[in-house]
Amino acid sequence: MLARAIPSTVFARRRRTLMERMGPGSIALLPAASSMPRNRDVHYPYRQDSDFYYLTGFPEPEAVAVLAPGGEREFLLFCRERDPQMEIWHGRRAGPRGAMDRYGVDNAHPITEIDRRLPPLLENRERVFYAIGYNPDFDRQVMDWINQVRSKARSGVRAPVAFIALEHLLHAMRLRKEPEEIAVMRESARIAVEAHCRAMRTCRPGMLEYELEAEILHTFLRNGAGWSYPSIVGGGDNSCILHYTENNAPLRDGDIVLIDAGAEVDGYASDITRSFPVNGRFSGEQRAIYELVLAAQKAAIAKVRPGCHFNEPHDAAVRTLTEGLVALGLLRGEAEALIEQEQHKQFYMHRTGHWLGMDVHDVGDYKTGDDWRVFEPGMVTTIEPGLYIPAGGKVMDAHWARLGVYLESELDERWWRIGVRIEDDVLVTTDGNEVLTAGAPKEIDAIEALMREDG
Ligand code: GLY
Ligand code: MN
Ligand code: MN
Repeated sequence: MLARAIPSTVFARRRRTLMERMGPGSIALLPAASSMPRNRDVHYPYRQDSDFYYLTGFPEPEAVAVLAPGGEREFLLFCRERDPQMEIWHGRRAGPRGAMDRYGVDNAHPITEIDRRLPPLLENRERVFYAIGYNPDFDRQVMDWINQVRSKARSGVRAPVAFIALEHLLHAMRLRKEPEEIAVMRESARIAVEAHCRAMRTCRPGMLEYELEAEILHTFLRNGAGWSYPSIVGGGDNSCILHYTENNAPLRDGDIVLIDAGAEVDGYASDITRSFPVNGRFSGEQRAIYELVLAAQKAAIAKVRPGCHFNEPHDAAVRTLTEGLVALGLLRGEAEALIEQEQHKQFYMHRTGHWLGMDVHDVGDYKTGDDWRVFEPGMVTTIEPGLYIPAGGKVMDAHWARLGVYLESELDERWWRIGVRIEDDVLVTTDGNEVLTAGAPKEIDAIEALMREDG
């Protein structure tokens, strides 16, 4: 995880809020993410667990955070000890002392002491909050600690009686972004915008998809950011593969290229998609499809505001796309009936957005009970409609789409190999919304003008 941008007062405030919501007699346990082996002695770059980081700001593996409301020392951390030899090889560690000095920890201990020190913390607590069932090793550890407490029942010690999924409270907090988080998300968006602009300026027929990916990554790294998910760079037919990541085919004159790439700054994601012609000039068919997706995206964005619910942008996008596909002759029938039959799924098989935050598909419920969640200021969602027509004009009928079966269609060849998605990150404000990624051009004239500039 790169540069720390969220001040420590914010982490302290979050811990206080969570502990208030947990109520007296509670304790919360959060493990840090494990370091993941890749091959032999090589590990994947370490990425802290989002929940753990949200509450601690602590960037190291092999740590467990404990929130024990009610006492003098409410925030405890078990972490790796300092070790000059290991630090020479693998990098610096805070150690328990550093954790207390720099991360607001009330009491820190070596992780090696956790089995001895943790069970007493559970004594006479009624409720244990943790992410039950996501980490089998941690589940087992928690149960061992609980059983240690239970074994002392005859000496009058009470063991916890309730285990509560922590994400219930925590993810409700993460769904509504604080001003400090929005500031970081703005920065993440700014960097991703810069990257997409660079890719547009650089693109030329004959380049390989990975060359554009390199331009994206260049901008991320130069700005001290990482990626929030592996970049998708798909030209021509590859633009129709939703999660394409091979990124190794040539970009051909006359084809469209779709780039879905987002940055990560201090644990916060951006998520942008732009689709543009490899040669800098939209063809007639590309233009028609593109204008339709853009109209759908604008209709959807207009529905991101307090009072609208989460599915309204999707409904608006589907209506615009369906009517437009009829107008282009790509769907036949009456729009109302086609919407009812979900015929748009032939060309648009994903949904219009997802929460965005520390995780690119961020946490937070989409429904409360049976009802879609209503947007509130501080929530951030992506808005990302698309249309995809692969080579062969093979499409998925709405019914067969559910079974994943492609059908032969009679689509004229001129429509083939066009995949367009336009994706922005949209913050709900008190009176509407703000598109955090508005700096990446999406009007056809603006894209073509930028692509005429020298890369
Ligand atoms: N890049 C993943 C998504 O757009 O949802
Ligand atoms: Mn997305
Ligand atoms: Mn995306």
